[in-house]
Amino acid sequence: MSDSPRKILVTSALPYANGSPHMGHLVEYIQTDIWVRFQKLRGHDCIYVCASDAHGTPIMLKARELGITPEELTEGFSREFVNDFADFGIEFDNYHTTHSPENEEIVGRMYKALRDSGDIYTRTIEQSYDEKEGMFLPDRFVKGTCPRCKSEDQYGDACEVCGATYAPEDLIDPVSVLSGTTPIKRESEHYFFRLSEYEDKLREWMKVAALDKNVIAKLDEWFDAGLQDWDISRDAPYFGFRIPGTEDKYFYVWLDAPVGYMASFKHLCDRTDGLEFDAYWNADSDAEVYHFIGKDIMYFHTLFWPAVLKGAGFRAPTSVYAHGFLTVNGQKMSKSRGTFIKARTYLDNLNPEFLRYYYAAKLGPTIEDIDLNLDDFTARVNSDLVGKLINIASRCAGFINKRFDGQLSDKLADEGLFAEFADASETIAAHYENREYSKAMRLIMALADKANRYIDERKPWVMVKDENRLPEVQLVCTQGINMFRSLMIYLSPVIPVVANDARAFLNEDDWQWQDASSPLLDKNLPKFKPLLTRVDADQVQRIVEQSKESTPVAEAETEDEFISIDDFMKVDLRIARIAHAEPVEGADKLLALSLDLGDQQRNVFAGIKSAYDPAALVGRHVIVVANLAPRKMRFGVSEGMVLAAGPGGEDIFLLSPDEGAKPGMRVK
Ligand code: 2FM
Ligand code: ZN
Repeated sequence: MSDSPRKILVTSALPYANGSPHMGHLVEYIQTDIWVRFQKLRGHDCIYVCASDAHGTPIMLKARELGITPEELTEGFSREFVNDFADFGIEFDNYHTTHSPENEEIVGRMYKALRDSGDIYTRTIEQSYDEKEGMFLPDRFVKGTCPRCKSEDQYGDACEVCGATYAPEDLIDPVSVLSGTTPIKRESEHYFFRLSEYEDKLREWMKVAALDKNVIAKLDEWFDAGLQDWDISRDAPYFGFRIPGTEDKYFYVWLDAPVGYMASFKHLCDRTDGLEFDAYWNADSDAEVYHFIGKDIMYFHTLFWPAVLKGAGFRAPTSVYAHGFLTVNGQKMSKSRGTFIKARTYLDNLNPEFLRYYYAAKLGPTIEDIDLNLDDFTARVNSDLVGKLINIASRCAGFINKRFDGQLSDKLADEGLFAEFADASETIAAHYENREYSKAMRLIMALADKANRYIDERKPWVMVKDENRLPEVQLVCTQGINMFRSLMIYLSPVIPVVANDARAFLNEDDWQWQDASSPLLDKNLPKFKPLLTRVDADQVQRIVEQSKESTPVAEAETEDEFISIDDFMKVDLRIARIAHAEPVEGADKLLALSLDLGDQQRNVFAGIKSAYDPAALVGRHVIVVANLAPRKMRFGVSEGMVLAAGPGGEDIFLLSPDEGAKPGMRVK
């Protein structure tokens, strides 16, 4: 390894604080956390910061819709992120928010530097404006008919059917998704950053930044198309920071979001002796800065961000590491299939280290998507972690405990074999360094196979029957435990909790990477406790079922965030009388309702058990979505959906117009 410790600052993309963390998010945070833990284990000075991305129109509108402030909304989701990340072993040195004084100060400072050097100018532009809501509309808040292929109901930036890109004004029959009214065109003065002046500097940066070839290909494409200046302002109402010297102009969320990396680091510096912000961010800094991101936000991180940093007199990132998206069972995550799995649903059922290992076994340094195949997940975790890795220790530890009072011998049985484990150290390290985790995992598991073969061949369980061969048993088991120990050190960035338990069993205080290359001898060990148990396919299935169950009722909120008024008009809302209600065996939240819709009866499952006693419901009226396609749930077929509102628990309110209500009546 290198002689002097490197100074490294690492970030993961700042998650928008308006939804819960899910399996897709975890790819990036687990990937980054493994890299950071690896660097720390190698003795480097590596700092990992993150924050919630708290600004922008969607957050402002969601808070408005829920009747809370954006601060309240983002604080609530930030807490979820912090808790779920911690439970997945993702260890930030600091987790902050972009809505912070540090961020406002830094973004203001950068803006002034850019303005003073002539990189900012203003220009009047025309944009879609919703007169009813009194606000300019971001492109995705306008829908209409594609000007090219004439497909209806397309967003204002691009057509999902033919792939055309355009401005919202180009749509035929545009409507505001907020009010359903036709937007007008209105002029407003915007602030622009002269990105077009930065091509040479960006090309230089690109040469030294050691980017993945796919990222380079993208950059080349963008250069070929010509860099456009970047609109960095938004008009009020907007949740963000006001641009200094203006009354009603705000920084666009994508300007202050990456500055949030610096702000989170600054927040850490302010609380940590000897940690200097400037040492990491000055133009001549010798520290390394890496951003881990998803492939969808490369443009922001490889063009805008390095250009803004350079223009404002800071250093640019050392590199930007982009990864692909997650599919589950080969498809986009889906709520109806139960594969849109929230981090918490996984945590409620399974050991987080399994997922960390599985992702590591799949991850490489490219922007290729990775697939979480749930059957493969179960098989891989059981075979690799339990069947190969932990098995080495459990096969040897029992003999050491029982026959030798926990005492390891003072030498190895096969030094040559141990040397093979030690010699793999630098290759495995290089794989981690290059984010070739799948290669690292393969090599580690090949060594685990070797260790198991060694034990199979020596058969300590046979030797132990012969008193004369006991010293040999102790040597062989000491050898086995040492091979296990080296592999656990190599795997500790991936499965830190299991590694910690293994270290405790080995009676060691601390591990550094190089410890894997020297054996642990002549040491007394405590009793061995099983470190992991197998994944049961039922546990995985339960996660899928729970992810399905939460969909129909309380959390049907957002596969896509908005539906058009046309979509809404398709919904057939009817009044129904509850003829019968009963709990559903095996379901915590559901009641089975028989509904009388006047001319027909329907059976519907509703997630309202926490708020209503079934007996008290009979005879009440509810509003039901009558034309929802019947859905097969775990407990039977649900033939509609009952409308209810509220935060959950006991506070779920059925919208029940008992007075004058007639089953079958249309609601609109
Ligand atoms: O795409 C996103 O989820 C953004 N919230 C990522 C921001 S990363 C950084 F720039 F802040
Ligand atoms: Zn089209």
